[in-house]
Amino acid sequence: MGKLVSRTAVVTGGTKGIGRGIALALAAEGASVAVAYSRDDQAAKDAVAEIERRGGRALAVRADVSRADQVADLFARTVREFGPAHILVNNAAVFSFQAMTEITEEEFHRQYGTNVLGPVLTTRAFAEQAPAENAAIINVTTSGVAHNRPGSALYTSTKAALTTMTRISAKELAGRGIRVNALAPGATDTEGARSLGVIDSGMADELIAATPLGRLGRPEDVAAVALFLASDDSAWITGEVIHADGGGH
Ligand SMILES: NC(=O)c1ccc[n+]([C@@H]2O[C@H](COP(=O)([O-])OP(=O)(O)OC[C@H]3O[C@@H](n4cnc5c(N)ncnc54)[C@H](OP(=O)(O)O)[C@@H]3O)[C@@H](O)[C@H]2O)c1
Repeated sequence: MGKLVSRTAVVTGGTKGIGRGIALALAAEGASVAVAYSRDDQAAKDAVAEIERRGGRALAVRADVSRADQVADLFARTVREFGPAHILVNNAAVFSFQAMTEITEEEFHRQYGTNVLGPVLTTRAFAEQAPAENAAIINVTTSGVAHNRPGSALYTSTKAALTTMTRISAKELAGRGIRVNALAPGATDTEGARSLGVIDSGMADELIAATPLGRLGRPEDVAAVALFLASDDSAWITGEVIHADGGGH
């Protein structure tokens, strides 16, 4: 019997990379999973098909997490299809790297809109419909919060904000039976990391050299921790930050 049978999960950005890995892992334990995405319909179809091929239940909803109306639609469709969501994984994010003096207003709003406002809107919508017990929110941050690496101020500060929100919302939502934890991956081989040139480059070599376990992360490395945080195995853990980064933080 799977650990998440009869539970429903919403995974934002569940169509690619780490989010897709998490969606597959939750579905494999019996959860019905709604994956949200913003643009790439084909990736969404592929993610749903892969979950179903493995015997799981899934739904893809095109919903920009920075838009309250689209977040409301995401939860309405999820509840209609699978019943109220017990699990929310705030994984969708956008990233780019530049010096403080190179940050444009447009890029600031793009990253803060998806990476910070997004989890605010989804957390609110999730809490409105969550069952009174066994509910869990997992906020995907980054182990980069510990590094203060030059060129990462914008992106990393969005994740530092999400880390603080995790600790505070864990206290605020505990009385409603909702646990809130953060999951901080290190550099992980994903579509997003590849499109930024992080993989198969000198940057990857540097990141591997700074990782005691000596390789880049894989989506399934992170997904295994997300499954732990989503399930009752972590019933006594809230407000925590768990790094899945090969010891690199
Ligand atoms: N990869 C790494 O090295 C790494 C390291 C540390 C932390 N992380 C964190 O891990 C998470 C996943 O990263 P990843 O590398 O797997 O990303 P990715 O490969 O770029 O995938 C991002 C996913 O988020 C979706 N998305 C983007 N903007 C969205 C929006 N506004 N609304 C809804 N969905 C949206 C994308 O869908 P569309 O393509 O359809 O837009 C896609 O499914 C992020 O929170 C990231 O910050 C990643």
